[in-house]
Amino acid sequence: MSTLQKSKRWWIWPTLAMVGMFLFINGCALFEDERTTKGKKLYRHYCMHCHGESGRQGEGFNWDSLSNMEFPPPKDLSESSMGDSISDEDIFNAISRDMKDTSDPIVVDDIDYFGVATMPTFKYTLSEMEIWTLVRYVRSLHGGSFTFDVEGKRQQLESDLTAAKDTLDSATQVLEAAESKRDEEIEAAEAAAEAAGDDDFEAEEIDLPEEEIATQAAIKHVQAKKSFDRFAKRPKLTIARPDLAVTEEEHAVLAERGKHLYINKYGCNSCHSLDGQGGLVGPALDRAGFRLNATWIYKWLMYPAGIKKHTRMPNLGFNDQDARDVTAYLKTLRGPKPEPAQIVPE
Ligand code: HEC
Ligand code: HEC
Repeated sequence: MSTLQKSKRWWIWPTLAMVGMFLFINGCALFEDERTTKGKKLYRHYCMHCHGESGRQGEGFNWDSLSNMEFPPPKDLSESSMGDSISDEDIFNAISRDMKDTSDPIVVDDIDYFGVATMPTFKYTLSEMEIWTLVRYVRSLHGGSFTFDVEGKRQQLESDLTAAKDTLDSATQVLEAAESKRDEEIEAAEAAAEAAGDDDFEAEEIDLPEEEIATQAAIKHVQAKKSFDRFAKRPKLTIARPDLAVTEEEHAVLAERGKHLYINKYGCNSCHSLDGQGGLVGPALDRAGFRLNATWIYKWLMYPAGIKKHTRMPNLGFNDQDARDVTAYLKTLRGPKPEPAQIVPE
């Protein structure tokens, strides 16, 4: 190769290096983008009506109804001081928790409880991975850094599951070996008894210690599978058709409790209005008692996504009794038909 040719090609290596650099940086940006896009999508679907597009107070269309309530309105999620005052875990726990009766003194005194009924939980609606994606997005709103190792957590749960499966498999093998050994011993004892002319012989029932070990391993495996699924998948439920028949007096008691739960535990009023008061995220419920069938309401409360897959109404983690109570309450809502708009002649 002549010196001339060599000098003509001097640019190849720097160019390749630059192209490589370009691809690397863009690759990272694309990857980063995908995660942010997912968080943004979830945020816009489930959070923006109350917290605003950029997390600022007063921005969401449901803000005014929230600030009229006795609970504090949301803090400004775009405020940079949020970065220090709240940890990734705090944000996670604000989004994922159990709804509790906020008028109960035990709940009021529980300093570890994020006790606001007007912030619905998403624990029963989204996967933990999705909730972490939201935490990352909330962090980006106030320019805070997100440090929770989501992928590390996923790998940990996955390897716990694999380990639990291996333990179960070997415990099952050991149990099977012990069982066949026991069966052989029983057969031998029976044969010996028969040979000795003992017709009444009955082998003794023996509890194998291996059985208990295998049962424990099976329980651990189920738990590990649950934890992994909880992390990776949205919770799914099957709701059986309830028998809601009660006497009129019983119905009144349930409805009274339901009314209390509606406001103080589940904060339904943060998204729904009654008599013009309350949130605007879901439809007004003044006439729910006429419009909706009790069984339908019960099933809707227990698992909204089972009826409408992408509904904005989260599953609030109802138990059977609470769902009966709130259903009874909604059945009492039989407000008058809204006045038709008046047409004023000119
Ligand atoms: C129906 C209205 C509503 C919706 C929907 C809602 N929030 Fe909230 N959120 C609130 C209220 C009210 C508070 C205030 C609680 C407080 O400060 O005590 C709050 C508090 C928070 C906080 C803690 C900061 C604070 O104000 O104390 C975070 C973080 C948060 N919400 C994130 C989310 C995310 C993420 C979503 C969507 C998955 C969401 N919220 C959906 C009403 C809502
Ligand atoms: C985060 C906001 C939010 C909260 C909290 C919420 N809902 Fe809803 N709800 C909705 C939305 C949005 C719809 C509309 C459903 C759809 O079309 O996706 C809805 C629909 C409904 C419906 C059906 C209404 C109709 O006319 O078809 C009922 C009933 C209902 N909600 C009751 C409740 C009750 C009771 C609570 C409290 C336990 C509650 N909701 C809490 C947002 C919410």
